[in-house]
Amino acid sequence: MKQGLIILGVLILGLSSCRKDPEDPLHKTPSSYKPTLVDPATIFPVGKFGMPQLPSDNPFTEEGIYLGRMLFYDPILSFDSSISCGSCHKQEYAFAEPKKFSTGIFGLQTGRNSSSLYNLAYSRKFFWDARQSTLREQVFEPIQAHNEMAMTLPFLAKRLARTDRYIEYFDKAFGSNPNVFDMSKALEQFLMTLVSKDSRFNGFFPGKFSLLSDTEKRGALLFNGLVDFDMVTGLATGTDCFHCHGGALAQQNNPDMGGIANNGLDGNFTDKGYGAITGNPADRGLFKTPSLLNIAVTGPYMHDGRFATLDEVIDHYSDNVNYLSPTISPMMAAHGNKQLKLTPQQKADLKAFLLTMTDSAFLTNPAYSNPFKK
Ligand code: HEC
Ligand code: HEC
Repeated sequence: MKQGLIILGVLILGLSSCRKDPEDPLHKTPSSYKPTLVDPATIFPVGKFGMPQLPSDNPFTEEGIYLGRMLFYDPILSFDSSISCGSCHKQEYAFAEPKKFSTGIFGLQTGRNSSSLYNLAYSRKFFWDARQSTLREQVFEPIQAHNEMAMTLPFLAKRLARTDRYIEYFDKAFGSNPNVFDMSKALEQFLMTLVSKDSRFNGFFPGKFSLLSDTEKRGALLFNGLVDFDMVTGLATGTDCFHCHGGALAQQNNPDMGGIANNGLDGNFTDKGYGAITGNPADRGLFKTPSLLNIAVTGPYMHDGRFATLDEVIDHYSDNVNYLSPTISPMMAAHGNKQLKLTPQQKADLKAFLLTMTDSAFLTNPAYSNPFKK
């Protein structure tokens, strides 16, 4: 123990003496390392969503968040300085983009539809196939993907290290010179601050249904109602969306409770989704359940952008669920392999309810915009 402390002491001395050495390439001197801590309670609407589980080694700071924001919008993160994270994740579309697939570097296309980005601090799994568990690991994928930013990390570290704004801000945020480890932490901070909480839906949910119009109210009842078929009319009385898209986040985040599911799109899987990650045949065709907040602006829909409009999505759940799909969610199979066959009125009601989920304050919040465009 004592020995450990001595070694630690030597290390700290060693580090602090590095700090003072003007010749040391890793640390500037004198350091202006005085980051301004940001209280997570000012970022997250604890009363509505609860406090997310946060990484203990990456406290929010004003400088860290701003550094992350610059990095997010900076095309120098890609090999030929042409593509930034913001190229495929656009604020006005809740950080998705209105294209089936996105165009990355050299005109290459992504294999899946660009994800919307908000309330990520509440998510336990990232990407459509749930292959990443932390944001700081997630960010390295697009940077290095040959069809997205095609960058190598050593080259990126060098490029950041000769860019004045990063020399300044890595020092301010982390007391370090630019490096890809702190880069991933800054991006993690910025991504976690993307909070969507001000839709009309989040204003009345869970209790104040009196704030809804009649059609929205009927839509809410469908969305939150269990599927039951009326004996007389044969029509579905509820559409059971809430099991997978329920709660204030309009998203089930527990992977085992509908957070990763097969919603009956396909019988044969061209994209095995989660199954390709786990290697388990029972996981083929399962994908991360997206939040429905801001759903009006994040089309086209599904992992492959196959549906252009919300009407097409509703038609899928109403009329075209593939009950023969081998891994269909047990929650959907429980409908007794019977299509909901919603009436035009029910479809319109469901859509009206989904439209209450748009958060225009989020889509225009200046704190999330491109800091290079002022
Ligand atoms: C060329 C377009 C493109 C670029 C550039 C890009 N992304 Fe993405 N992003 C996507 C696509 C497509 C997906 C879905 C991929 C998948 O699931 O396999 C995605 C998914 C994500 C997700 C997962 C969201 C979730 O809820 O699971 C995060 C987070 C993310 N991107 C952040 C970033 C960051 C940060 C950068 C910059 C370092 C970036 N992206 C650059 C297209 C892009
Ligand atoms: C068993 C869980 C489950 C149920 C029940 C469910 N969904 Fe989904 N939903 C998903 C999954 C998983 C996806 C993503 C599937 C994919 O991309 O392959 C999804 C995708 C969507 C999307 C597209 C989201 C996007 O960003 O592309 C919409 C819209 C949607 N669902 C609406 C609904 C509605 C409305 C209902 C009720 C009628 C419903 N869902 C019921 C699991 C479910």
